[in-house]
This record gives sequence, C-alpha cells and structure tokens, in this order.
Amino acid sequence: MNLDTQNIPTHIAIIMDGNGRWAQARGLARSAGHVKGVETVKRIIEISGHLGVKYLTLYTFSTENWNRPVEEVEALMKLFVDELEDDVFMENDMQFRVIGDTERLPESVKRRMNECMDKTRNNKTLIVTCALSYSSRWEITEVAKQIAQDAIEKKVRPEDINEAYISSHLQTNFLPDPDLLIRTGGELRISNYLLWQCAYSEFYFCDTFWPDFGEEDLHKAIESYQKRQRRFGKTEDQVENQQKAEKK
Ligand code: IPE
Ligand code: IPE
Ligand code: MG
Repeated sequence: MNLDTQNIPTHIAIIMDGNGRWAQARGLARSAGHVKGVETVKRIIEISGHLGVKYLTLYTFSTENWNRPVEEVEALMKLFVDELEDDVFMENDMQFRVIGDTERLPESVKRRMNECMDKTRNNKTLIVTCALSYSSRWEITEVAKQIAQDAIEKKVRPEDINEAYISSHLQTNFLPDPDLLIRTGGELRISNYLLWQCAYSEFYFCDTFWPDFGEEDLHKAIESYQKRQRRFGKTEDQVENQQKAEKK
C-alpha cells in the first residue's frame, strides 16, 4: 500500500454508480447489480474504517431515482430493508445515519433505518451516512424555506445569514465537507449530490462499476487525492509556506 497514513481524507463521499450496467453486461436483471452493489458497500465501509476515514457518505438513492420503473424502485426498497443490518456497524463501532427526503420512503424502510440509527448512535469510529431519497437542490430548497419562515417569525435577521449559518441548516450539519468525492461507473457528473458541500472537494472519477469496486480501487482514489495540493484559492507558495510553518 502506497498510502500516506497521515493524509487519509477525513470525509469521503461516494456516488456508487454502475450497478445496472454491471448486471446487464452479464445478461442479468438490473436488480442483480444492486444486490451485488450491497456487498461492495459492506466491504468499502469496513476498509474505510480500517484506513481511519471518519465520515463516509454514500449516494444510495436520489430524488430522481424515484422516476425509475416501479419494479426497480421496489426491488431497491426491499434491499434497503433486508440488507440494512446493525451487525456491520456494531462490530466495527460505526454509526449509521441517513440524509434525504425520508418522508417519501415506505414505512418498512423508515422503520429499519430508524432502528439502525438508534442502535448505533453512540458508536465512535466512522459515521456512515446514506443519502436516501436525496438531492442537493431539494436539500437547499428546504433550507431556503426554513430561513424564510424564521425571518417572518423574526428568529433571524438577513444580516445574520452567512455561509456557516446555511451549512448549519443543511441536512449534513453533523458532517464536515467532503475532502474527496468518488464516482464509479464512468460518468463525469455529480447528479445533484452535495452541491454546496463539495465546493472545495477533490473529485475522482473511475470507470469501474460499483459492484467491482474494491480495496485497490479505493486506495487508487486516495493515492490520487494525496498527490494533489489543495489551495483553496491561495497560491502554491502560500500553501507550501503554511505547511512548513505548521510542521515547525
Ligand atoms: C447506481 O447504479 C445505484 C442507484 C442509482 C440506485 P445504477 O442503477 O445507476 O447503475 P447504472 O448507472 O444504470 O449502470
Ligand atoms: C446517481 O446515479 C444516484 C446514485 C448513485 C444513487 P444515477 O445513475 O441515478 O445518475 P445519472 O442519472 O446517471 O446522472
Ligand atoms: Mg447510474
């Protein structure tokens, strides 16, 4: 492993794409790809925990995915209920969380999800967040509505609204911004995921379909991340001088 263990991204967000194409390439139904994709999720959660990642945020089902054929949506909902087990989180001391428009989810999914969140709420090593029925524009629109309401009720003045205020009202308010955003499956887009939060994230795209994504692929993504200089608008010299000063 060529990874610098001192520079593991604190927060990795993943767009887990390519399940359907993985299955179709094998002459299988798309749902078989989702079943296989769940195995990858379990594997990547454990590997991330061992690497020392603190937050893993997985794009699991988007608001737009509600528009897929009913059978596919139903198969996915069934998978969430059947495969969301406490064990992997309890054994690895990890928390399970959900972001998204969860009101739209079937009762059975909500129940399973709430049980798993309750059971794992005091775990410490890694926070695994599933974005379920999530889209970033939906999330930001909800914040805008909330702020407008607070303003009407005089709970907030326009001059008090700043970036930190907006971040603290997003569903992700318990998470730092992602350091690294990975998308599998070959598409070069972010499909309405964490638009605000990824303002300064490093992006990594790979062709591997999600069911085939393994430890080596994750290491490659992190290696690529570690080769980059995050400048946040500053110059190369400024960043290097800052790093030298921090090392002293
Ligand atoms: C990602 O895989 C999983 C979900 C969106 C639920 P896809 O189902 O989008 O797979 P492709 O992109 O069609 O191959
Ligand atoms: C994004 O994948 C959503 C998830 C991975 C859950 P999609 O397959 O839905 O994205 P598009 O439609 O290709 O942009
Ligand atoms: Mg897709």
